[in-house]
Amino acid sequence: MERVKKISIIGVGSVGSTLAFNILKNLDIEELILIDIAGSLAKGVALDLEDTRAFLEFSTKILGTSNINHIKNSDIVVVTAGKARSAGMTRYDLLNINKEIAKKIAKKIKEVAPTSLVIVITNPVDFITYVIKKETGFGRERIIGMGSSLDSARLLNLVYQMVKISPSSIETMVLGMHSKDMLPLVKKCKVKGISIDKFLSQEKIKLISEKTKIRGKEIVELLKNRSAHFAPSLAGYQLIEAIVKDKKEIICASTYLNGEYGIKNVCIGVPCIIGRKGIIKIIEIELSREEKEKLLKSANYFRECMSLQ
Ligand code: LAC
Repeated sequence: MERVKKISIIGVGSVGSTLAFNILKNLDIEELILIDIAGSLAKGVALDLEDTRAFLEFSTKILGTSNINHIKNSDIVVVTAGKARSAGMTRYDLLNINKEIAKKIAKKIKEVAPTSLVIVITNPVDFITYVIKKETGFGRERIIGMGSSLDSARLLNLVYQMVKISPSSIETMVLGMHSKDMLPLVKKCKVKGISIDKFLSQEKIKLISEKTKIRGKEIVELLKNRSAHFAPSLAGYQLIEAIVKDKKEIICASTYLNGEYGIKNVCIGVPCIIGRKGIIKIIEIELSREEKEKLLKSANYFRECMSLQ
C-alpha cells in the first residue's frame, strides 16, 4: 500500500501546531505543510518546528504558508481551522462561522488533494465532518472526525483517577456527538478485561460519566479565551498514526452513518477500525436500551441543528 508521504495541517493554532510537533517527533514522513490564513503565523510555527530537528532528528521537509494550494496531492489533510470556543460558548455556537470556513476548505481539498484522507478537528466537529463529507463528495471512509476519541481519553483519565490502575489496562469508549449529549459507555469500561463495577460503586461510575461530559467545558472555563489543546492534538495524532502505520486500530471517531445503529445521514462518534485507507469498518456494538435511546437522541439533536442552518 502507498506510504503516507505528505501531511497538511490547515489551521496552526495551539491544536494544529502541537499536532505538527507530535507528527515530527514520531512519524517518518517526507513533507509536512502548515497552512494558516493569519499572515505569517504558519511560517513562524514552521521555522520554530524546524529548529527541533537538532533534537528530534527528523528529515521531514516543513513548509509554513498562507497559501492553501500547497496542500496539493497530500495523503492526509487535517482541518483544524476556524474559531475556537472561549468561556461561555458551546461548541454549537461556532457552527455558523466555522461551517463557511469548512466549505471553502473542502472545495479546495476536492480540487487539489482529491485522493487525500481528511481528519476533521474543527468544532463543532460532528457538524463540520458532515459539511466536509458533503462538500468533497468523498467516500465516508476518507472523512474522519476527531471527537469521541478525545472524550474516550478523558473518560479513561477519570477512571484512572478513581481506580489507580495502569492506564494501559483501562478500556473506555464514548459514542455520540462531541457535545454535552455524548454517550460515555461508562458501564462498559473494563480494567484488564474486568468490568468497572468490580472496582467502583454505581455512584462513582455515574459521577465519572457526568464529569466526562463537561470536561471540555471545565477546561475552557479555566483557560477563558481558548480551549484545550494537548489532549485534542494527541487524539488527532492517534488517528494519523493509525493511518500512517496501517494499524487497523479501533478508535471512536465521528463518521457518516448510513443505517448503522439505526441512524442515517448524520455524523456522530462510533467505534471504527482505522488504517491506511481511513475508516475500514464501523463496528456496531451491543447497546442497552437506555444507551440506544441516548444515541438516537444524539442523532436527532444533530438533525435538528442541521435543519436550523
Ligand atoms: C474540547 C474541545 C476541543 O472538548 O472540543 O476540549
